[in-house]
Amino acid sequence: MLLSLLAMQLLASTVCSSPTTYQRPFGVEQSTGDRVNVSLYVMSRCPDARLCENVFESVIQQDGILDKINLNIGYIGTPNKSESLGVSCKHGSLECIGNAHQLCLLNSDTVSIKKAYDIIQCQNYPSSFPKEIGTLQSIKECVRAERLDWYESGIGHCIEGKTKEENRRWDEMEMDFSFSRGPVVDDDDDDESTPKLGKRAKRLLLENIKQVYDKGIKTSCTIDIDSTIISHQGRRRCIVDGGVWKGCDDGHTPQDFVRVIEDEYENLKSQHNGNR
Ligand SMILES: *[C@@H]1O[C@H](CO)[C@@H](O)[C@H](O)[C@H]1NC(C)=O
Ligand SMILES: *[C@@H]1O[C@H](CO)[C@@H](O)[C@H](O)[C@H]1NC(C)=O
Repeated sequence: MLLSLLAMQLLASTVCSSPTTYQRPFGVEQSTGDRVNVSLYVMSRCPDARLCENVFESVIQQDGILDKINLNIGYIGTPNKSESLGVSCKHGSLECIGNAHQLCLLNSDTVSIKKAYDIIQCQNYPSSFPKEIGTLQSIKECVRAERLDWYESGIGHCIEGKTKEENRRWDEMEMDFSFSRGPVVDDDDDDESTPKLGKRAKRLLLENIKQVYDKGIKTSCTIDIDSTIISHQGRRRCIVDGGVWKGCDDGHTPQDFVRVIEDEYENLKSQHNGNR
């Protein structure tokens, strides 16, 4: 009895879904060739997202899989004009910032999706997870661990909104300032735990969260695979909620996802050829 109560509390505390107000129907987006649409909806500081990302890292490492899918990563939050970033995130503003950091990785022209995933996995790995997610230190260390240059890769500019030169000048100015005036007092209401974001990072965050919000997706993690094989809603959905996999009719191991993607891909190809 006590044990099951404890278990329930544990589950409740790790569930990452936004309060549901209403659900909108699925939006329509651009299609890209004959690839299978695969979407992962997450929150950067959610343990369930870490679970999904772990499985998906193995999926995208399979030979040729990335050529068969359109992988879309969506971050779950609520558009909110009263917030400085324009969105509210379930695990606080640091999560919004963590989402933006990861969006900068995922949208970089110089960083492959595999590499971006390795960096996200590096952030997810420490036992202190999710404590550091959203800090500049976490993303910087993991970018460095993957042997990418913060500035050359464009990630630094996306996240900080400053080039290497601008950052150096800024540091020098702050140093001068602190020498002449003693310790710098930041009288912004932003404290250390909510670092600032560059323009591009902010825009990516706002756009991405709005898209996901408009689809009515509230639970991190939700995995959607568009289907042309099963008729039911034309989509296979699998959810991790409080550490429990739900609704995963096709299984939830990396091999299961790979098999489903291969099947869907073959079906798309044969449909395409049949239509000619
Ligand atoms: C992929 O998604 C786009 C946008 O929702 C849609 O137009 C397209 O038909 C989808 N493709 C497949 C194969 O499901
Ligand atoms: C919107 O932001 C304000 C200010 O942070 C907050 O008090 C309010 O709860 C937020 N609303 C939603 C729906 O998250």
